[in-house]
Amino acid sequence: MSTTPSDASLDPTPEHRFTFGLWTVGNPGRDPFGDAVRAPLDPVDTVRKLADIGAWGVNLHDNDLVPFDASPSDREAIVRRFRAALDETGLVVPMATTNLFFHPVFKDGAFTSNDPAVRRFALAKTIRSIELGVELGASTYVFWGAREGSEVGAAKSTLDAFDRYLEAINFLCAYVRDRGYDLRFALEPKPNEPRGDILLPTVGHALAFIERLDHPDMVGLNPEVAHETMAGLNFVHAVAQALWSGKLFHIDLNGQRIGRYDQDFRFGQEDLKEAFYLVRLLEGAGYDGPRHFDAHPLRTEDPEGVWDFARGCMRTYLLLAQKARAFDESAEIRAALEAASVPQLATPTVGPYSAEAARALLEEPVDLDALAARGYANERLDQAVVELLLGG
Ligand code: GCO
Ligand code: MN
Ligand code: MN
Repeated sequence: MSTTPSDASLDPTPEHRFTFGLWTVGNPGRDPFGDAVRAPLDPVDTVRKLADIGAWGVNLHDNDLVPFDASPSDREAIVRRFRAALDETGLVVPMATTNLFFHPVFKDGAFTSNDPAVRRFALAKTIRSIELGVELGASTYVFWGAREGSEVGAAKSTLDAFDRYLEAINFLCAYVRDRGYDLRFALEPKPNEPRGDILLPTVGHALAFIERLDHPDMVGLNPEVAHETMAGLNFVHAVAQALWSGKLFHIDLNGQRIGRYDQDFRFGQEDLKEAFYLVRLLEGAGYDGPRHFDAHPLRTEDPEGVWDFARGCMRTYLLLAQKARAFDESAEIRAALEAASVPQLATPTVGPYSAEAARALLEEPVDLDALAARGYANERLDQAVVELLLGG
């Protein structure tokens, strides 16, 4: 399959469900060593521009739109103006979240700060922000535990922290149910940054935590490429387990190299092969949630480069979706999959237990030498994938 830059099938449309955060394209490029390199964007201009380039939605933290210290009347005016831009462009707000990390009050944590006054404020701030999200039409509410962690082992009882984390999410679930909102929660795991260690560091930890909640059905996952990769883990496996558990409520797409700081690169900037497997998984599994790009334009970019970045995220996703279709249609790939016995894994091994089935298993003759000697043709298969991706 050949594509050219003018290929219309690479033009994003709202049906593709691409979303960006106000904080992503709006990132001014500040880092721990250097100041902002771009001026802040007006959220209304961001909405218009995102609609222009074919995005479906825009996501936000409360304070991306409404400043931390805004008065109620300021808030109302800001939200009214933003709402008008959404109505004018048709852009939606599928996800909202709370900024529980920027203000110094959260330095020891939000829901798990040692100080109960901070914990209570974090809950109140989240309730106000849930109200904002619901007002804007969000159906997913994300919890990223940025400051829920520590650098000093003795400084926080981890067991108490889990109790407080659970208490907070249970309280907020009950709030949403009490108000009758159609809103699901998505926990976003991350191993570190900004804290030395963050609680619920991976998809697996978060899945186990959810099972302890009062209303596990309304809580799922928002996995992020960069976060599992920072932990040195296989992101595609993590997403597959979330999907398999019925818990993939949202996804944060970006690019990241193992062993580096939190890079937040454009989707597909690193490890294209993993990005391909990810897109193939999402498309093949019929994931119908937002494809959210939680990434930042490089610090080298001027205002125009910001939109090259945004277009690039969507374009790479669409190109990889095309490659995924080509993968499924290729006779060569199909033969290589057969040679690797991939389809056989879909066959049940023994079926449900019965004493008879167990007896049959124990009596079954097995040619271990033949089984040990057989190959699984993985070299051929991987090379076929490489050639498909390189267009060979
Ligand atoms: C990060 C996170 C954030 C969250 C966002 C929504 O590493 O900074 O990925 O971008 O996704 O705060 O909760
Ligand atoms: Mn991140
Ligand atoms: Mn994220």
